[in-house]
Formats: sequence, structure tokens, C-alpha cells
Amino acid sequence: MESNHNQYQDLAGKTALVTGGTKGIGKAIADKLSQAGARVIITARQQPEETNLAHHFIEADLTQPQQVDQLAQAIHETFGGLDILIDNIGGVTAPGGGFSSLTDQDWEQELQFNLLATIRLDRALLPRILEKKSGVIIHISSVAGVKPVWYHNLAYAVSKAGLNAYSKALSNELAPKGIRVLTVSPGATNTPLMQGLVQNFAATSGLSAEEAFQRMAAQAGGIPMGRMAEPEEVASLVHFLVSPAASYLTGANYLIDGGTVPVV
Ligand SMILES: NC(=O)c1ccc[n+]([C@@H]2O[C@H](COP(=O)([O-])OP(=O)(O)OC[C@H]3O[C@@H](n4cnc5c(N)ncnc54)[C@H](OP(=O)(O)O)[C@@H]3O)[C@@H](O)[C@H]2O)c1
Repeated sequence: MESNHNQYQDLAGKTALVTGGTKGIGKAIADKLSQAGARVIITARQQPEETNLAHHFIEADLTQPQQVDQLAQAIHETFGGLDILIDNIGGVTAPGGGFSSLTDQDWEQELQFNLLATIRLDRALLPRILEKKSGVIIHISSVAGVKPVWYHNLAYAVSKAGLNAYSKALSNELAPKGIRVLTVSPGATNTPLMQGLVQNFAATSGLSAEEAFQRMAAQAGGIPMGRMAEPEEVASLVHFLVSPAASYLTGANYLIDGGTVPVV
């Protein structure tokens, strides 16, 4: 009997936007969706390093409202709308150390980067997606949104928890209109962001990079699988979720964390 695998995971004819698609998890997702046949648009503040990239690159700083509007306009004019939106930008920018280390400015910056930029982009792009009466939105969150680690990621974790609640509510609003909305929450993943966090912690604690990572993982409750995820592993999950194979999935938050979150 022939396998239906390709038919259900084929993205030919679909147009996807991946924010932060030049590095790390976003790049792996962009590559995976492109391999599955989608036309892929990526955004970031700087041009990707690869020059022979298959994707369409649009420069934008998504924490700047005016640039979000310009991006939405450019996508409408050049590509005629989207079928798949991957809201991927985010990361830890505030210092560690707990509540007393964080200023109003730190909190505002973390909320802009990890929550408000995504809400603003969805709002700018959704009218055209709704016109098609079909589409998928994936919000890349973090295990920190359900399992905050006070020393390392307090403001980030709060921002991602807000993203989780927003994503759930948006899924309920849009399900009757044919749009699926899902959240993907990676644990520690081997990207430039994570490598930077490990190096910073190593520099301030006098540990080697490997020791610093093991200490950070232990403070987060440990990783039963004993290693970080590779970005391609997160991308495989995202590919499945945006594909026709996942046609009845909406509103859920998928942890991909090597077993880190210890609750059912
Ligand atoms: N890595 C992990 O361990 C981990 C764990 C859990 C969750 N996550 C989440 O996964 C997502 C991706 O993380 P990552 O580790 O792949 O990050 P990364 O390695 O730092 O890559 C971030 C990407 O976003 C772009 N970007 C950053 N700021 C931007 C802005 N203001 N406007 C537009 N683009 C911007 C970057 O390009 P430019 O710098 O050129 O703009 C780059 O393409 C984030 O939401 C993060 O919170 C990561």
C-alpha cells in the first residue's frame, strides 16, 4: 500500500512568513517549510549570511510598529497574502538575578519583544488571512511560559505566559472562521540565542560553557533527555502542525523539551 505521508505534509501552493527566519529555530522552520513545497518569506533586522537562500527576505524590526505595517503592506502587494504565519521572534534580553534586578525598562523591552510585537504583527496580517477563510498561525513560545526560572528568565517567562494566553484566546476566536492557531514551546535549543546565554553565564560564573549549560539546565529542573534540542527538531513539529495532517488541531500548546516540564 502506498504511504499518504507526502500528501498530508505537502505545502505546495502555500505561502508562509517566518519571523526571525535568518537564524536558529526560525531558519530551521523556514528551510523545512520550503523543502515541503511552500513559498517562504523571512524577516529579520539584518540580511541572512547565506547568499543563495531560497527564501524571500524582507528587512524589518518587528518591535517598531511602523515597520510591522510596512511589512504587512509589502507582503500584501508582492505575495497577495499568507497561508501560514510563524511568529518566531523572541528571546531573553533582560538581566538575570530575580525581581530586584529588573527595571521598568527591562520589563517593557521583554514584553515588546516576546509578546506585543507578535500581537501587533498578527493584527496587521489577519484581515487578509481571514479573507481566505483558511490559514495557520504558530506562536513560538517557551517552556519558560509554563515553568519560569526566577534567576534566569523572570520577565521573559511572564511575557511567554502572556503569549500562551493570547494564543489560546485567539484560537477560540478564529476557529469558527477557518483559521487554526497553535503554540509551540521549545525547551533549551541549540541556537545563537542559547549559545549567547550559556556564554554569558559561563563568563559571570567562572564555569566552562559545558559546565554553565549543565548548571542552567539543573536550575531549570534538568533535561531528562540530557541534551538540548536541535532547531531542526522544533522545525519538524512546526511542519506537522501547519500541514493538512494536523487539520483538527487548534488552541493547544505543544511542549518540545526533552521531558523538562515534569507535569502531565
Ligand atoms: N533557543 C532556545 O533555547 C529557545 C528555547 C525556548 C524558546 N525559544 C524561542 O524560540 C524563538 C527563536 O529563538 P532562537 O533561539 O532561534 O533565537 P535567535 O537564535 O536569537 O534568532 C532570532 C531571530 O530573530 C531575528 N530577530 C531578533 N530580533 C528581531 C526583531 N526585533 N525584529 C525582527 N527580527 C528579529 C534575528 O535576526 P536579526 O538579529 O538579524 O534581527 C534572528 O533571525 C524565540 O521566540 C525564543 O524565545 C528559544
